[in-house]
Amino acid sequence: MSVTKSESSDEWFFSSDQYILSETDDKGLIVYANDLFCEMAAYKIEELIGQPHNIVRHPDMPRIAFKSLWDDIKSKGFWTGIVKNLRKDGGYYWVHATALRKIHNDGQVTYLSVRRVPSKREIETCIPLYAELKSSEQ
Ligand SMILES: Cc1cc2nc3c(=O)[nH]c(=O)nc-3n(C[C@H](O)[C@H](O)[C@H](O)COP(=O)(O)O)c2cc1C
Repeated sequence: MSVTKSESSDEWFFSSDQYILSETDDKGLIVYANDLFCEMAAYKIEELIGQPHNIVRHPDMPRIAFKSLWDDIKSKGFWTGIVKNLRKDGGYYWVHATALRKIHNDGQVTYLSVRRVPSKREIETCIPLYAELKSSEQ
């Protein structure tokens, strides 16, 4: 797998033909993560299963982004956005995430997230926006 680190910062990258996948239960506890998720977040799979998805929450992310994620997937069943995630080693990586609600035949609800590489422009738009949203938090 071609995961790489920036030479000048703690930013990590994956390639545009790869997808970081995870699935949570209705409480946001991780029930599945693919190999690329583990590699990008620098966790072993057994460290992730059963943990809250905020295990990869980066402190630069504004609260409102996740409020909109939860509001949208619960009401519309769908959310998409740009997220900066935290690695176990303190590094970070940006993703373009699409989160979906899945209603199983037995009525059980789980949530899936499919993450691809965001464009440079998407990241450059989010850096000042998230900093502003973060600074206006109480
Ligand atoms: C399917 C799914 C995927 C998620 N993916 C991420 C993620 O990649 N990074 C992240 O910080 N939060 C993700 N979240 C949101 C977390 O559950 C959590 O709301 C967020 O990290 C904020 O944490 P907090 O509520 O403890 O402040 C995801 C939630 C769902 C349902």
